[in-house]
Amino acid sequence: MSEARQAWEEHYGAHERVWSGRVNIRLAELVEPMAPGRALDLGCGEGADAMWLAEHGWQVTAVDISQTALDRAAADAAARNLADRIDFQCHDLAQSFPSGAFDLVSAQFLHSTVPMDRARLLRRAADAVAPGGILLVVDHGAAPPWGIGAGSSTPRVPDRTTSGGIVESR
Ligand SMILES: C[S@@+](CC[C@H](N)C(=O)[O-])C[C@H]1O[C@@H](n2cnc3c(N)ncnc32)[C@H](O)[C@@H]1O
Repeated sequence: MSEARQAWEEHYGAHERVWSGRVNIRLAELVEPMAPGRALDLGCGEGADAMWLAEHGWQVTAVDISQTALDRAAADAAARNLADRIDFQCHDLAQSFPSGAFDLVSAQFLHSTVPMDRARLLRRAADAVAPGGILLVVDHGAAPPWGIGAGSSTPRVPDRTTSGGIVESR
């Protein structure tokens, strides 16, 4: 097991529930007016954003490095009758990436306590955006004290326009 996977498994395993269960506010603000399509949630944790997207008509691929978090998310999704709208996949995004093209690629606080090459990961995320789709990256303004790899809220991705952490694919 990689150091990153072990760290996140320990983190989720140490608590019955880690996150609030509420959707991230910037995601909700941006996506509410959009027509639903295919969404990719990177570092989905316990699945609050993925379930909110599914409830708003999106077909979601939700990815995390922690199987514990994904199992929790999948159980909640099943309880909310959303299982057929969310494909939960376990990836260490530094090693593998889900296939497909997405109208929305969302990375909400995709930070880690273990160093990771975020620039490379976000370039890969931008490549997964379908024509006309968007990449939404929301971060802490500076690296949180518990994490490494947080940075600017605006990803620097070549050949795309950026504004406030949103990258639009044209
Ligand atoms: C700070 S949490 C954010 C969770 C969720 N997006 C939210 O906003 O509540 C970061 C998440 O990224 C996941 N993560 C960290 N490194 C990862 C990696 N290399 N590949 C996939 N997921 C990763 C962690 O397991 C964790 O669930």
